[in-house]
Amino acid sequence: MRTLTGITPSGTLHIGNYFGAMRPAIDAQVRGDCFYFIADYHSMTTVTDPNERRKNTLGIALDWLACGLDSKTSVFWRQSDVPEVCELMWMLGSLAPMGLMERAHSYKDKTARGIEANFGLFAYPVLMAADILLYDVNRVPVGRDQKQHVEMTRDMAIKFNHTYGETFVIPESEIRDEVAVIPGLDGQKMSKSYGNTIEIFGDEKALRKKIMGIVMDSRTPAEPKPDADKNLAIQLLKFFTTSEVALDYENRLRAGGLGYGDLKKALFEHYWNYFATARARRAELAANLDHVEAVLREGEQRARAVADQVIGRARKASGLR
Ligand code: ADP
Ligand code: TRP
Repeated sequence: MRTLTGITPSGTLHIGNYFGAMRPAIDAQVRGDCFYFIADYHSMTTVTDPNERRKNTLGIALDWLACGLDSKTSVFWRQSDVPEVCELMWMLGSLAPMGLMERAHSYKDKTARGIEANFGLFAYPVLMAADILLYDVNRVPVGRDQKQHVEMTRDMAIKFNHTYGETFVIPESEIRDEVAVIPGLDGQKMSKSYGNTIEIFGDEKALRKKIMGIVMDSRTPAEPKPDADKNLAIQLLKFFTTSEVALDYENRLRAGGLGYGDLKKALFEHYWNYFATARARRAELAANLDHVEAVLREGEQRARAVADQVIGRARKASGLR
């Protein structure tokens, strides 16, 4: 049972990404046969600065390795190191009906929000289908927003198999509904597009300032707070400590006597300690970029071993040489 997912290098990762996407992917490694790639081709529909792309790609590699991606058991590579994925995209795109493409909501949503559409954005579900089908994947763990893309992938695989004979494994999405939505500094869903993020890694002083800057109401420390469970710092604290410890803070806030300043200080300390090991590992990796490059190169070789076979099957089936 092979699992695959892609990570678009479009910015600095925050704790919403960590608990919503990274942690589940890292935990899934116990099942074995995990394929994780940095979707640098996908970043091209939005990022046009080459240095930014290089920086984001390296940053994401460091983040994932530091947080526990095990490159010995899992295959971890840069999408563009196996460019055959673009060839497969053409094969699949040539069978994708316009009606199917036009129903894709990633494109519809972006254009509806006034984002200028390019062909890449429109074609993106076909590249995503190629990402999946090139590696004989069974399971694709994704957020709900990506479910439609996996369904389109199935449609394209079935159509190809029907047209040219059995070639592709039909994948299934694994939707992470149980993962909580992590609230941001303003209480809305944490998202880099809302500017309300707490990064996983970053400068201690700046991050402390962000957390200490969370806006609360004007009740004095002594006042009891019957709505303590709704407090944003309490909600965030739950991700970084045991439920007993979080409940203790909640009870103290409810009873009165715990000030917001002290609560935010505690939140910062728990958050900072939570990532201490990963932070140290990230610093080590950042000081040894040759090693990181070697990891991605080895991943490329392992990914290629599968991709070569699958693209060979697809070429043969469709009458290419
Ligand atoms: P952003 O909203 O910051 O642009 P992305 O859309 O790039 O984040 O999300 C990357 C992954 O992280 C997705 O799988 C998504 O489900 C997850 N994720 C992002 N924000 C959150 C959040 N606030 N809570 C839980 N998961 C999240
Ligand atoms: N489109 C996905 C996202 O925005 C990233 C991605 C690219 C992906 N190719 C993939 C995820 C293949 C799963 C499988 O989050």
